[in-house]
Formats: sequence, C-alpha cells, structure tokens
Amino acid sequence: MSQAAKLYEGKAKILYATADPEILLTVYKDDATAFNAQKRGQIKGKGEINCQITAALFAWLGSKDIPTHYLDCPEPNQMRVKAVEIIPIEVVIRNIAAGSLCRQTGLPEGKILATPLVEYYYKSDELGDPLLTRDRIFLLDLVTPERLAEIEKMAREINKNLQSFFDKCKITLVDFKLEFGIDRQQNLLLADEISPDTCRLWDQKQNDPQSRVMDKDRFRKDLGQVENAYQEVQQRVLTQLKL
Ligand code: TMP
Repeated sequence: MSQAAKLYEGKAKILYATADPEILLTVYKDDATAFNAQKRGQIKGKGEINCQITAALFAWLGSKDIPTHYLDCPEPNQMRVKAVEIIPIEVVIRNIAAGSLCRQTGLPEGKILATPLVEYYYKSDELGDPLLTRDRIFLLDLVTPERLAEIEKMAREINKNLQSFFDKCKITLVDFKLEFGIDRQQNLLLADEISPDTCRLWDQKQNDPQSRVMDKDRFRKDLGQVENAYQEVQQRVLTQLKL
C-alpha cells in the first residue's frame, strides 16, 4: 500500500495503482463534503460503511447481470476494482421529487414521479456539475448516441433492481447518482459507488420528513445522527443479503 502510486484523490475516495495495470485500489475516506465542497466535515466510520455497502450492492447487481468494476475488498474500507476510463457524466435517477429537482422546478418534495427520471450532469468540479442536455453531451463529445442509449438502459435496469431491493429493507429509494466506465475491451461497466453518500434513502419505518432521512442529506442539512443513519442502512442491506 505505502509504495502504491496515488493516481487521484477525490472528495470521498483515493485511487491507487496496483502491481497489475488492469486493477486499481480505491480507499474510501471518512471525509464528507456537500454543495461542491463548500461544506466540509467527517462522518466517523463512513469510509468503511460506504465501501461495504457498495461492495454488497455491486456484487448483488453483478448476480443480476449488471456488469460492475467491483472485484473484492482487501480491507473493510478498501476496494479493488477493474481499471476503467470513467465517463465524465453523473447519471441521476429519480423516483420521487427531492433536492435539486424541487429547487429547480417547484415540484413538491415527496411527489412520486409517474416514470423514473434519468438526468445527466457534467462531472466537473470547476463548473459545479451542471445539468446537461443530450445535445450538450454530443457537442462536448462525452459519449456517442449509442453509448448514451446503453447507459440509460442500464441505469433504468439498476433502478428497477435497487428499488425492489431497498423496498425489502423497508427503505424507499428516492433518487441516486451513478457513474459508468469503459474497460479496455470497450465494455460499459457500472463504476464508482452506491452508498448513503450518493443516494436519497427514506426509512419506511418513520413518517416524519426529517426522521426518515437515512443518507447524506442528514449531513447537508445538519439533521444530526449521521453516523447512526449510515450504520442502519449498512445493517439493513447486509441483513437482507444475509451477509
Ligand atoms: P440532487 O437532488 O442534489 O441533484 O441530487 C440527486 C442525487 O444525486 C442524490 O441522491 C444525491 C446524489 N448526488 C451525488 O451523489 N453527488 C453529487 O455531487 C450530487 C449533487 C448529488
């Protein structure tokens, strides 16, 4: 580990090279940021929790024929992944109106969307991850129309699987963000993470709009009990998967 070359440090994870050029090591950090890093803090144990939740969900999605970059976890907060080139698009899938969708459209929080909404944001910290249109995606040459169709299809399939999975955990999957990568054989793989940092998750056992929040909105909105919420998600996910 100590000699491994650091390739990239993001807000929540550090990426290292390994002896095998086909394999990278991701180390999940306890650091938390929001609003494009204008708000910074730490969530104790988050690195390990998010790594374990992502590993469990990626392995399970793999069993549902969704290809991912996940390989294994040598340590609880470390994940070995297949090397991919990350597509600079954050794919957000929404089942229920919340967050920026409500701020930008006036839709009331909690409105169930008739069809899941798939949105694309430009993965660029300098530009503040702006919402993209299809034409802007092609103007910037981020992906081909065929690849975008493949991404949307896979994102909707992942949503269907995760919605029913979280429902069994008594958790409502409100919305979430995905990233995709391309491997050396030009295959599209689900990459990055799926965790309370990247999803909105509402506890079906709680009615109160603040008490039900089990995700990073607890940190964004200073709702407290952040660590407990992340631990509870991990426990329900692992119990449902009998891990
Ligand atoms: P939004 O409502 O702020 O656009 O967020 C939609 C979803 O995307 C939500 O589940 C949180 C997730 N998300 C990220 O994972 N990273 C980000 O940088 C942002 C802004 C949102």
